[in-house]
Amino acid sequence: MTSEKKSIHGQWSSRLMFILAAAGSAVGLGNIWKFPYITGENGGGAFVIMYLVCILLIGIPIMMAEVLLGRRGRKSPINTMRDLAAADGLNPAWGLLGWMGVLAGGLILSYYSVIAGWALAYVFRAAAGLFHGLDTGGVGTLFNSLVSSPEKLLAWHTIFMFMTMFVVAQGVKNGLEAAVRWLMPLLFVLMLVMVGYAMNTGAFSKGLDFLFAPRFGDVFYHCQAIDGRELCEFSWKPLLIAMGHAFFTLSLGMGAIMVYGSYMPKRTSIAAASVWIAIADTTVALLAGMAIFPIVFANGLEPGSGPGLIFQTLPLAFGQMPYGRLFGALFFILLVFAAWTSSISLIEPAVAWLVENRGFSRLRASVFSGLAVWLLGIGTIFSFNLWSGERYQLFGMTFFDLLDFLTANIMLPLGGVLIAIFAGWLMSREASEDELNLAHPLLYRSWRFLVRYVTPTAVFIVMLNALGVF
Ligand code: PFF
Repeated sequence: MTSEKKSIHGQWSSRLMFILAAAGSAVGLGNIWKFPYITGENGGGAFVIMYLVCILLIGIPIMMAEVLLGRRGRKSPINTMRDLAAADGLNPAWGLLGWMGVLAGGLILSYYSVIAGWALAYVFRAAAGLFHGLDTGGVGTLFNSLVSSPEKLLAWHTIFMFMTMFVVAQGVKNGLEAAVRWLMPLLFVLMLVMVGYAMNTGAFSKGLDFLFAPRFGDVFYHCQAIDGRELCEFSWKPLLIAMGHAFFTLSLGMGAIMVYGSYMPKRTSIAAASVWIAIADTTVALLAGMAIFPIVFANGLEPGSGPGLIFQTLPLAFGQMPYGRLFGALFFILLVFAAWTSSISLIEPAVAWLVENRGFSRLRASVFSGLAVWLLGIGTIFSFNLWSGERYQLFGMTFFDLLDFLTANIMLPLGGVLIAIFAGWLMSREASEDELNLAHPLLYRSWRFLVRYVTPTAVFIVMLNALGVF
């Protein structure tokens, strides 16, 4: 019987462990590094509102769909999709959705690891007291001395990929569970400390205003002063970026949450778990914003200064606060851990498939996929130095920008919609109803309505709009 199936890779020891592991996947660089800088680049409050609406209407329903498919199939996403399609008499080509996920996971991890490498480097910089007494210029110089050096970036990227392969090789229980049990709660507490510091910068309300006050004009109109005249251009792109980020931050659309769902005990409520994961994830992102923007405004920095934002704002804070050396080192250690618990979920779908279909040991599968990702990461490393010039850009984007845009804004939403269509339209109603096992029929009907109609329509409209189709 399908309901008795278990994954060959093991199972989480409890409902809480599933939630912690999935929250570990969701909470990562996306919340603390990416969310503040894309919010800064896209005008602030109105962008945050669009992102929150996407989490609620698109993210949570798709997360439920993804977990339910995983737990129903109990295999790597490629085999799960193929098996579930076959069970309902559908084309086994649905397995391709799993393949797209494996590809997206590899592409994301290749740059994710480079950025996690920055965080690693900053652990040592903080501990060495290098932030002490730095001004805005000083933190900029310190950041540039790291990203302009391909050798340094390569070394840190290599270390982080080793760390990822090491945990993944240990397997579900020993590797993944051990890491998330303590670190996630500690990260949360440290974020609160940072917000506490931000409250005393003198620019707390300005930061909050930027983060929460909806000014849609600032989001959709990009203005530039050219020859003394202000030229404004309208674009839907921020809406796509907000939606793409909802997928990215919840780890949706590529099989990471699906594979974690395949290790989930049978009688755990998928809906409750999904809501908890989304709440944890969103809270950390908003706390990060509340910590960072007051520091930006108090020090005359630019909110739109790009991927370096947290690496230039937070050191200013640590350089000035009491025990800043200790808090700084601790903060970047926790950031590395948050990235670590996400990176393992990015590679797990590929590893699970290699074990199932190629008979690889977990160790061999981890090394094999890890090496491929490591190699690709070199492209991102060069994006910040050797290949940063216009000559190496495509559509005005560096290799890193291109990977980020392609994965977060195209591949993840596309994967997510296909998952929603599969769970909402193609899979039998009995199967999804049984697997979700919701307390009230109305809840099930609302979920089904969202994944059948709202999610696919919303994602397609946003994508086509932003890509200029209409
Ligand atoms: N959710 C992670 C973050 O916000 O940092 C990134 C991520 C992990 C994306 C796993 C996708 C994924 F499958």
